[in-house]
Amino acid sequence: MSENVAGKVTLEKLVSLCQRRGFIFPSSDIYGGLSGCWDYGPVGAELKRNVKAAWWRSIVQERDDIVGMDTSILMNSKVWEASGHVTNFSDPLVECKNCHLRWKADDLTENKCPSCGGELTEERLFNTMFKTFIGPVEEDAAVVYLRPETAQGMFVNFQNALNTTRKRLPFGIAQQGKAFRNEITTGNFIFRSREFEIMEFEYFVKPGTDEKWFDYWVEERLNWYVKLGINKEHLKLNQHPEEKLAHYARSCTDVTYLFPHGWAELEGIANRTDFDLKQHSAASGKSMEYFDDETKEHYVPYIVEPSAGVDRAVLAFLCDAYDEEPDKDEIRVVFHFHPDLAPIKVAVLPLSRKENLAVFAKDVYTTLRPCFITQYDDTQSIGRRYRRQDELGTPYCVTIDFQSLEDNMATIRERDSMNQIRVPVSALKNTLLAKLSGEDLFVLPEGGKIWKEEKKES
Ligand code: GAP
Repeated sequence: MSENVAGKVTLEKLVSLCQRRGFIFPSSDIYGGLSGCWDYGPVGAELKRNVKAAWWRSIVQERDDIVGMDTSILMNSKVWEASGHVTNFSDPLVECKNCHLRWKADDLTENKCPSCGGELTEERLFNTMFKTFIGPVEEDAAVVYLRPETAQGMFVNFQNALNTTRKRLPFGIAQQGKAFRNEITTGNFIFRSREFEIMEFEYFVKPGTDEKWFDYWVEERLNWYVKLGINKEHLKLNQHPEEKLAHYARSCTDVTYLFPHGWAELEGIANRTDFDLKQHSAASGKSMEYFDDETKEHYVPYIVEPSAGVDRAVLAFLCDAYDEEPDKDEIRVVFHFHPDLAPIKVAVLPLSRKENLAVFAKDVYTTLRPCFITQYDDTQSIGRRYRRQDELGTPYCVTIDFQSLEDNMATIRERDSMNQIRVPVSALKNTLLAKLSGEDLFVLPEGGKIWKEEKKES
């Protein structure tokens, strides 16, 4: 793990903050955890849902050429035989002859155990698919696998999706869901785990146009992270050399991110050619051909596949949003999440718990709650409550004070600038909606601008 440096995000700081604020906990924590498994807490679950929703919106809802699916985790084992996973989905494993720890040979830079320096065994291949049995009898015929990728569910449904939606090529199928890999080593928080989520899509194209579409998707996918707030300088493309390509890929470019542990893969964009559809066609005896009614040709489409890890995206958004800012004598820790990703959008904070103020503030809270994920917090001093919301990455706090009872106005405090503006309670909802969607000023129906005086948080 990286060293703890003030002002700089480290995995230690992130893990501790995520646990303290309810983003992410070790799985089965009260029993000592389970290696490579994590639980998302109340705000972490919201953040993850927001990441997935932003992806679904941009890939499925805002496009005409991609449809969504949700296929099962357990599939007929013949799928994994045809796809090549039973034979090829393996990592080279070595074991220390002294302490018996196991390592992925690819991760080692020296030929000795990183833990005790002991001698290592010869490499052997270890298939990382989790195996289980369907039904009550544990026999070979009942073997099923927990899917290591969601892609195969989309390949075997290619004709179903095409025929029921009447789409023409180029056309894509997208899905999000759990995947399982019995990784030899896990680590770097949620970066590499044994149970994780993938969001990926298969884009079916006419052979010969695959390279053009590959380049298009590499660019699009890189930009998606930037649009959601990731600093461009922290993203880099990495083209795989031929000898490192997966068994199904002709070419692959990774979108990599500068994680605290170094540059590492966030998403892979692969040109899978017609490999998968041809394999499934040969093994099932079912046609995977497409009839192109413009050219009157039959062909098996090529596939371009952008495949992203949900948890890695969450980790990248957490790392990039994290900041430590000098604030008076203290350090303000804040997540500058993009408003679409922020787990809580608005916090309503009454200045005191006095009954008349509480009734007023609760009223504001119930008006806002149907529109945004809103939190009501009346504990501790207002300064501490602002800091708590900063650590949750809440873009706006609405403060209700005694003056509010007189003039029916409330204060909106902005997370990033810490600026405060005074707004009529009746305009709160629209002002916040405008601000959360990136508009600078909200114009009242009568034409006036609703905020004039901006002052710093005192
Ligand atoms: N269908 C293609 C496919 O599954 P992959 O590169 O093996 O491609 C896709 O996986 C993405 O899933 C990766 O880019 C990475 O973000 C994420 N991923 C892979 N293994 C992971 C693991 N053990 N833990 C967390 N995320 C993982």
